[in-house]
Amino acid sequence: MRQSIAVIDFGSQYTQLIARRVRENHVYSIIVPPTVTPQRLREINAVGLIFSGGPSSVYEEGAPQCDKSLLEMGLPVLGICYGLQLACLLLGSKVGSAKAREYGRTQLTVSHPNELLANVPEQMSVWMSHGDVVNELSADFIPLAQTANCPIAAVKHAVKPVYGVQFHPEVTHTPYGSQILRNFLYEICKAEGDWKIGSFIGETVDAIARRVKPDERVICGLSGGVDSSVAAVLLYKAIGDRLTCIFVDNGLLRLNEAKMVEATFRGHFHIDLRVVDASERFLTRLAGVKHPQEKRKIIGHEFIEVFKSESCTIRNAKYLAQGTLYPDVIESGYNVAGTAANIKMHHNVGGLPAELGFELIEPFRELFKDEVRQVGGELGLPDEIVWRHPFPGPGLAVRVIGDITPERLKILREADAILLEEIHAANWYRKISQAFAVLLPVSSVGVMGDARAYEGQNVCAIRCVDTTDFMTADWTRVDYELLARASNRIINEVEGVNRVVYDISSKPPSTIEWE
Ligand code: XMP
Repeated sequence: MRQSIAVIDFGSQYTQLIARRVRENHVYSIIVPPTVTPQRLREINAVGLIFSGGPSSVYEEGAPQCDKSLLEMGLPVLGICYGLQLACLLLGSKVGSAKAREYGRTQLTVSHPNELLANVPEQMSVWMSHGDVVNELSADFIPLAQTANCPIAAVKHAVKPVYGVQFHPEVTHTPYGSQILRNFLYEICKAEGDWKIGSFIGETVDAIARRVKPDERVICGLSGGVDSSVAAVLLYKAIGDRLTCIFVDNGLLRLNEAKMVEATFRGHFHIDLRVVDASERFLTRLAGVKHPQEKRKIIGHEFIEVFKSESCTIRNAKYLAQGTLYPDVIESGYNVAGTAANIKMHHNVGGLPAELGFELIEPFRELFKDEVRQVGGELGLPDEIVWRHPFPGPGLAVRVIGDITPERLKILREADAILLEEIHAANWYRKISQAFAVLLPVSSVGVMGDARAYEGQNVCAIRCVDTTDFMTADWTRVDYELLARASNRIINEVEGVNRVVYDISSKPPSTIEWE
């Protein structure tokens, strides 16, 4: 069975990053809650544990804890930040507030040569983010490194294979962080390092081929986005023409999107594809609806209705394939730091199986988006699909703020197409995580051809964000000249826009989409 590293999630915002870093070093990783049992860790063939950081103080009431038995299994443990403090506490050390809190870059000095901090300089820059420190180390621990404000910045246990670092090796601001993680994986856990995307493809294709019997069919709701597209191609590789993809044109797509998706799939893969033009029914139901949650509800409902009537005509369709990713599974499975607030009711096909009685096939339940992109690349999907920015299920409905009308959709489509054209032309598409235009329900006064322009003129916002996980994001410091060209063309070429603004809000507190 495949080896794994279990990342125990104490609520750090970096937990997923730790899991990714481990996989990037060719060891499979799984995020587990602090309640995980030794039995479960044996089932997943864990060869090491990483205790993540977390927002709490270990002594705080309700602070996440794990059972001490995890430290008694003989498995190597690496505690990071809160994880270090917890491991030390469980093994007899004391933790308290630091004299000075440390946030950001600081200099670490290695004071005791050891296998965890091997092949790194004696003095190096590391990233810290903590208010507590281990202030009394039990005699069983050996201090390995220090910083000016943190005398115990790395430790190892004298007898058990338990290690800890107060800094964050998983972030790129710790330049030797990856080497430290590799030391843990290979020198301490003795991992084999056989996790590769190529082997994932082979194993998954075989598993699907075995599961879907020769007389059964699979339906895949294709959105044209990277996850469902790569899922479709992987399925096709496993079961060929027993796959039917359904692409619903809900009238809320971007300029030429339906044609592009259809051409790509028919051209490259010969997959049985049904394109359902349902734009009229969606737009009719959305007429006069302004509230974002109401829009999402209607779209989700209509989508199910369309899917239902289409799938009735596909004989013996027992399975529904979806492009669900690992972060989706983790986020909906449990949340260590508390119950996440429902910020937006994300529309997806998750409501379908219960309604329609399909069994689910979700080949990417264990992968991150960048890994799905690698799968897509290896399966030969074209770059324009593999590297597409995400596009929300409710489409332009949540980007035409307020009333959705065919006229307003047309304005937004044209503006959005110009923006993307300019971004591509300036070679910025791959540098931005997501870029789009938003049409505001605001008129502003302008002067066009020496005359006042107001009636029928709208403000268009441009949103470009940098993010890895779409949970937090910063606005892209995009090239001014690119913004100037996009703004100029939008105002000149799109009838109904006389002002363009650039959105400089980060997430949080804003979200990526406006609605
Ligand atoms: P927010 O706006 O929540 O967006 O910061 C985070 C990411 O999710 C996308 N998004 C959605 N995707 N259905 C989807 O399939 C939705 O209802 C939805 N709302 C937002 C958004 O485009 C961004 O990539």
